[in-house]
Amino acid sequence: MYVLGIETSCDETAAAIVDDQRKIHAHVVASQVKDHAAFGGVVPDIAARSHLEKIAPLVQSVLEEAPVPVQRLSAIAVTAGPGLSGSLWVGLSFAKALALAWQRPLVRVNHLEGHALTARLTHDVAFPYLVLIASGGHSEMCLARGVGNYLVLGHSLDDAAGEVFDKVSRMLGFSYPGGKALEACAKNGDPQRFAFPRPLKGQPGCHFSFAGLKTAAYTLFKRLPDMSDQIRADFCASFQQAIADVCVSRYKNAFEAVHNVSPTAFVLSGGVAANQTIRKAIEDFATSCNIPFVVPPVELCTDNGAMIAWAGLEQFRCGCRNNLREAPDPHWELKDLLTPS
Ligand code: KG4
Ligand code: ZN
Repeated sequence: MYVLGIETSCDETAAAIVDDQRKIHAHVVASQVKDHAAFGGVVPDIAARSHLEKIAPLVQSVLEEAPVPVQRLSAIAVTAGPGLSGSLWVGLSFAKALALAWQRPLVRVNHLEGHALTARLTHDVAFPYLVLIASGGHSEMCLARGVGNYLVLGHSLDDAAGEVFDKVSRMLGFSYPGGKALEACAKNGDPQRFAFPRPLKGQPGCHFSFAGLKTAAYTLFKRLPDMSDQIRADFCASFQQAIADVCVSRYKNAFEAVHNVSPTAFVLSGGVAANQTIRKAIEDFATSCNIPFVVPPVELCTDNGAMIAWAGLEQFRCGCRNNLREAPDPHWELKDLLTPS
């Protein structure tokens, strides 16, 4: 079984073909980072236009690279939300046209489910498992109980984890998206040098809140007008450590909340999963709980087509088929996914 996946929810145009043996036959991502860099964040109109320019040649290149004849595709999977409305419309319209032209079923995929199921493409992970999706738009702590079946234990009450990385990076003068640059700067820094707050740490529940941390970072930044390279590294290391500590505290509460269902793994996904300090902190906690820790390779943690192809394949195997009339849903939440019967 082969599935073509198309992803256009934010600022990456991506497509991939995967099969039911978990093989990725082709996987191409066209980043728009340069198009948005001057604005310090994603500009929705520019994103939609860029998807429109890139999508046809990109899908063409995936088909050639695989190479899988279109007649062998079992389905076309496409991100239908959450994300930027204009961007979603481009991907979904394109996928619908292909489904019609090739007479193949269409599967609408929830982008967050794509992140949540990637671990099952890259590793042998059985349900139920705990997954933290930490990206530029989301910080969601969930129990993945099955395909289309998620218990959302917590989400961000304000900024997402990646968003706060990006905003603080921008303040420090790194270009968008700044998480990677901030981590690189933190490499030789002292994570204990500055005592940043750990919002909600030690409190019950699994929600996140990063606004207070962001404000503390801004306030400290103003007090340190001429940062030496070492102070800058210490600042970044301390900031990153605060986020890592918050993530572990949320994982602790999540594990307590679902202890009775014995999760098979702790999974980390989304662009922030690239951060080694955060990975290590959660991995250490997983080890202390005697639970395997799973992180897909970085290129499959950030937005990509393989995660959408795989989630579509899992949904398709469960009987999911969508008609060609449905619109995207920019606010589609994991909790609103229907469990396939
Ligand atoms: O999952 P993703 O590619 O796109 C969204 O769905 O948002 O995540 C992008 C986010 C950005 O906020 C970026 O700064 C963050 O992931 N990110 C990182 C690192 N690499 C990417 N954050 C912290 N450390 C990193 N190494
Ligand atoms: Zn994402």
